[in-house]
Amino acid sequence: MNSHEPNQKISKLNLPNLGLSLRILFTGYLLVTSVGLLSAGLQLLLTHGMADGQFGLSVDDVVYSYYGNRENSKLEVKLNGSMKDKATVQERTEIIRWVRTGSPENIWQEKIQPIVMEKCARCHGGIAGLPDFTTYEAIKTVAKIDEGASVGDLARVSHIHLFGISFIFFFICLIFSLASGINPILKALAIGTPFVFLLVDVFSWWLTKWYPAFAYTTIIGATCYNAAATYMILTSLYQMWILPRRRHEHQKNTWFEE
Ligand code: HEC
Repeated sequence: MNSHEPNQKISKLNLPNLGLSLRILFTGYLLVTSVGLLSAGLQLLLTHGMADGQFGLSVDDVVYSYYGNRENSKLEVKLNGSMKDKATVQERTEIIRWVRTGSPENIWQEKIQPIVMEKCARCHGGIAGLPDFTTYEAIKTVAKIDEGASVGDLARVSHIHLFGISFIFFFICLIFSLASGINPILKALAIGTPFVFLLVDVFSWWLTKWYPAFAYTTIIGATCYNAAATYMILTSLYQMWILPRRRHEHQKNTWFEE
């Protein structure tokens, strides 16, 4: 049998042996998705990256984006600032605890309104030009805290992210599965990693919404799947364009023999 028999060709199914048109197709796809991944990274830097007021992505950015910044209501800031001398430490602590737990109306009536009536109302309710804090609706506006992403936001972004990114990874991994001469364990790990860490990343967003410490797993998840994608893209490009120039025979069918 000479080497042009079809089953001989199939037994050499691997990236360095691909014909020009498939190499162009795969390369075009890998380059365009790389640019896409980079611009997603840039967008992340510009939106979430600025959440803590400083450029660059940090754990604080992730916490602020998903968990929110619950210490920054106007009421709490003032109670620790220019209104500090207007109430006792216990009273201020009571109000701040109420604010951080989302300022529920029943606690307002029970505990907070009496303090406000006694300590704040002679100015905030009595003096024209100063905001009136004697009603729940009025104080709500200064008690507002930033609770980060809402459940609706998270559900929307999660499903777009899971469908969209797994689709992108599917093709990156499929192309990389044709790479020749890579240790089979390493190859299987590289192909499995993006999917596992995509799930880790998205689950961590939800957990961060309630437990800020999960900001770390969010960052670890994203770093791992991006590292795996970068490795697979670079290896595939190398094997399609550089390896064929080296006079080395690639005999394996990468899909069936390891
Ligand atoms: C003696 C009068 C007086 C009392 C009593 C007083 N405040 Fe004020 N408050 C002011 C003045 C004047 C300002 C505007 C200047 C400033 O922001 O520091 C103000 C501003 C505020 C603001 C910012 C309002 C805004 O929209 O900018 C908050 C919040 C506030 N006070 C909360 C309180 C609370 C809570 C208490 C009771 C524990 C209280 N204040 C007691 C005089 C008072």
